[in-house]
Amino acid sequence: MSNTAHDQEWVRKPGEAANGTACTLDQYQAMYSRSVDDPDGFWAEQADRLDWFEKPGKIANWSFDPVDIKWFEGGKLNICHNAVDRHVAAGNGERVALIFEPDDPAAPNRHITYADLQREVVRMANTLKKMGVEKGDRVTIYMPMIPEGAFAMLACARIGAIHSVIFGGFSPDAIAGRVEDCQSDWIVTADEGLRGSKKIPLKANVDAALAKVAAKAVLVVRHTGGDVAMTEGRDHWYHDLSADVGEECPCEQMDAEDPLFILYTSGSTGKPKGVLHTTGGYSVWTETTFRYVFDYRPGEIYWCTADIGWVTGHSYIVYGPLQNGATALMFEGVPNNPDHDRFWQVCDKHKVNIFYTAPTAIRALMREGDAHVTKHDLSSLRLLGSVGEPINPEAWRWYHGTVGHGKIPIVDTWWQTETGGIMITTLPGAHDMKPGSAGKPFFGICPQLVDGDGMVLDGATEGNLCITHSWPGQARTVYGDHERFIQTYFSTYRGKYFTGDGCRRDVDGYYWITGRVDDVINVSGHRMGTAEVESALVLHPKVSEAAVVGFPHDIKGQGIYCYVTLNSGEEADDVLTGELRQWVRKEIGPIASPDHLHFTPALPKTRSGKIMRRILRKIAENEFGSLGDTSTLADPSIVETLVEGRLNR
Ligand code: PRX
Repeated sequence: MSNTAHDQEWVRKPGEAANGTACTLDQYQAMYSRSVDDPDGFWAEQADRLDWFEKPGKIANWSFDPVDIKWFEGGKLNICHNAVDRHVAAGNGERVALIFEPDDPAAPNRHITYADLQREVVRMANTLKKMGVEKGDRVTIYMPMIPEGAFAMLACARIGAIHSVIFGGFSPDAIAGRVEDCQSDWIVTADEGLRGSKKIPLKANVDAALAKVAAKAVLVVRHTGGDVAMTEGRDHWYHDLSADVGEECPCEQMDAEDPLFILYTSGSTGKPKGVLHTTGGYSVWTETTFRYVFDYRPGEIYWCTADIGWVTGHSYIVYGPLQNGATALMFEGVPNNPDHDRFWQVCDKHKVNIFYTAPTAIRALMREGDAHVTKHDLSSLRLLGSVGEPINPEAWRWYHGTVGHGKIPIVDTWWQTETGGIMITTLPGAHDMKPGSAGKPFFGICPQLVDGDGMVLDGATEGNLCITHSWPGQARTVYGDHERFIQTYFSTYRGKYFTGDGCRRDVDGYYWITGRVDDVINVSGHRMGTAEVESALVLHPKVSEAAVVGFPHDIKGQGIYCYVTLNSGEEADDVLTGELRQWVRKEIGPIASPDHLHFTPALPKTRSGKIMRRILRKIAENEFGSLGDTSTLADPSIVETLVEGRLNR
């Protein structure tokens, strides 16, 4: 399809729907009403686009009090079949499924057709089986952004193993914690990853993790060719082990509620939670949301810049696009290497039509000036997307004006690891856009705003965002800890799913996400529990106490501000500051690197010993005028010391 054709098609008037998608406001309203009035009928119809070995007997069967969520019961399917095999069976084997753009712009691309993908996934699946992986086993995937990462996910799904993908930026300790939590005996990794020509020692990190926890086998994909240690009997090169595996591997017939994957995500307390998604609902949800939100048309090139280590990569690089038979681009590198035009150069080179990225990347690139964008031909772009954090209107306008030539729609998609897929967004063609607002609920989504006491707030208002009805892509539990699932999401407002986000609803019914209202911060679109950073800091032998809060950061959205109290006799200096930064990077990973370390003789605590985070947040934000009531503090004078400490930075 030519670009001109896209443009012409795009400016079509409301009412001229393409592809049968919800492309007009009337269609959206009709479909939305149907989806909430008759969810069973609506979702049965959506589910019908997929292949089922056995059709579901029941569609929705859920309760939020007590918490028990099931969709498509009685149905049997396999998401790998729907993402791969059925396209080949339908005669589309020669269609490109994945385009791989490597870190080094001069290195060769790979174009992987659906037929290639089927062969590769079967090879990986049979290799996993040869290692001993069985249905229901947990397989940890710690991979760079290379197609083999997607092959590994699909291969697990094919044989009914549950994958747990860990972002390549996490440390050995973080890997060990996750491997232990889900008792994963199997690990798939690569020798090294590449990001902006820097090498990431993935296999060495796995080795360090396995010094703390045991695993039966490690499968290693050769990527950079770098030297790695191989432990006899435990570690296997993928190219060796896969050399003689068979060419057949039928897809396991999975029950709709069989687990598909675990993905660890941060919360306000404790260690990261293993959010569990199941097969049927997640398949239908990612297929449907991708189809309507991105309005994908056959032949188009779609690029989501996320990493497969995050939920965005799961749902909108792998499962959503591939179930739709789309061509998805996978990019190994970073936006600013070798230069700040790398994203736009890739868009130009591959004639990308749909581009989906995070506000933090947009802000970082905006700062480098328009010339990096305008020197490339971006006329192929038809739709832009944003995800991961609120997009500030200034960044939105630059994205729209400079990248999108002022005429391309932007979908600002609000969702979470726990929601499996997009929940609030405008739909291209159906809704007017408002810079900074995510827009309207997707089909089947019933948002509700409540105050701190759980009182429902109507009309144009601001409150805490809850969802009152289940949707197919909803997480079913926290792996191994259902009680924690209930406590985290359903106990603040009984009978409702609480998102942890604050939100405003305007007179037009548009939703504006204002950010987290719990102790979770969003750093460059990465979700981080302040408690996790605090636990890492207090593990340091010189640290007595730590309190971590977010503060506004021009590029990252939020930065990490750490208040640290040292053990008596310890001195705060630049060396210790550097040491603590490194310490947190080692404990969690580079994404948790503190922006500010503020040494203080004490933390502001109430008489019962509770840290008053409200005060710490205000001080980190330089909002000294609105510290509120400090009279309940055990030692109110500490506030002055903290303010002085902040001003002296
Ligand atoms: O605070 C919201 C923010 O990211 C959180 C979810 O993070 P995570 O589970 O890592 O998933 C990120 C990718 C879906 C939410 O609670 N968030 C996500 N998208 C948006 C957003 N905030 C505002 N606007 C968005 N479009």
